[in-house]
Amino acid sequence: VAIVTGAGRGIGRADALLLAQEGAAVVVNDAGVNPDGTGHQDGPAEQVVKEIEAGGGRAVANLDSVVDFATGGRLVEQALDVFGRLDILVNNAGILRDRMVFNMSEQEWDDVIGVHLKGTFNTTRAAAAVFRQQRSGRIVNTSSEAGTSYGVAGQSNYAAAKEGIVGFTRAMARDLGRYGVTCNAVRPRASTRLTVNPMMEEARRRRAEAQGGTVEDDESAEPIATMDPAAIASLVVYLCTDDARNVNGRDFFVAGNQIGLYSLPSTEADVFTTQPIWTVDGLAAVFQSTLGRTLGDS
Ligand SMILES: NC(=O)c1ccc[n+]([C@@H]2O[C@H](COP(=O)([O-])OP(=O)(O)OC[C@H]3O[C@@H](n4cnc5c(N)ncnc54)[C@H](O)[C@@H]3O)[C@@H](O)[C@H]2O)c1
Repeated sequence: VAIVTGAGRGIGRADALLLAQEGAAVVVNDAGVNPDGTGHQDGPAEQVVKEIEAGGGRAVANLDSVVDFATGGRLVEQALDVFGRLDILVNNAGILRDRMVFNMSEQEWDDVIGVHLKGTFNTTRAAAAVFRQQRSGRIVNTSSEAGTSYGVAGQSNYAAAKEGIVGFTRAMARDLGRYGVTCNAVRPRASTRLTVNPMMEEARRRRAEAQGGTVEDDESAEPIATMDPAAIASLVVYLCTDDARNVNGRDFFVAGNQIGLYSLPSTEADVFTTQPIWTVDGLAAVFQSTLGRTLGDS
């Protein structure tokens, strides 16, 4: 039995459909909001439930926003009431409120952190209590490349939330690993309304130009329009299998026919002083020839 948040469209829908195809009963959560988080429609979640049922699977809709702490508890209760257990939680719901940081409003910051980071906590908090009791469970969180070197300008709220999710994922591996629960994150790239729209196409064009090329030269930008969200679902569902029991606290890139395993952060260079601590002058004397050696002009 799985809960998938933001499962009415895009990647979450693909996750829900594949989970159902592989035999899971699915709680299809989706608040049916616009890409910026405004508005509300019942349609997307209900439509995916119909699709799953038409394929012979079992599903139930949940229309609540993951921003509310109580939604986590309600989703878990719904899974237990309707299907009798809970095995899998996929945190996928997401919105965008892009703005350069010097123009970003408090609301734009809070809304994005609220859906992605707090939303991931809200559902995980509730599911973790069940997983701990039953000594099993799978959590897959949805991060992004926004906070990596692939990120574009104007997404500080989103990048902060998505890197927060990766840190949260590693912390969950420590909190829950001892109970037979795994928690991993995916950083997807797929064609959805969040990525294939005039605003994102403009951002990709500007990035390619800033790098001295055109969007046609940018091998990472062009194919996104044809990247099937189903590719993300294959990895998400694999991470929920028994076979993946040893995969915990890790994050993956996934798009089209490629899946990458990210390395865990580690220091790339260290300097030590013979004194108890470094002084500013002492650091200035050695920084550029040691830690700064590979940093270039950026
Ligand atoms: N598409 C990509 O290339 C890409 C890249 C990196 C990360 N992501 C992440 O993948 C996830 C899915 O994105 P997508 O591209 O499929 O977008 P999408 O807009 O197609 O789907 C997101 C769904 O989440 C729902 N949602 C939003 N806020 C919600 C809330 N508060 N409560 C419940 N549901 C809510 C929306 O109604 C929508 O149906 C997001 O977390 C996004 O940040 C996507």
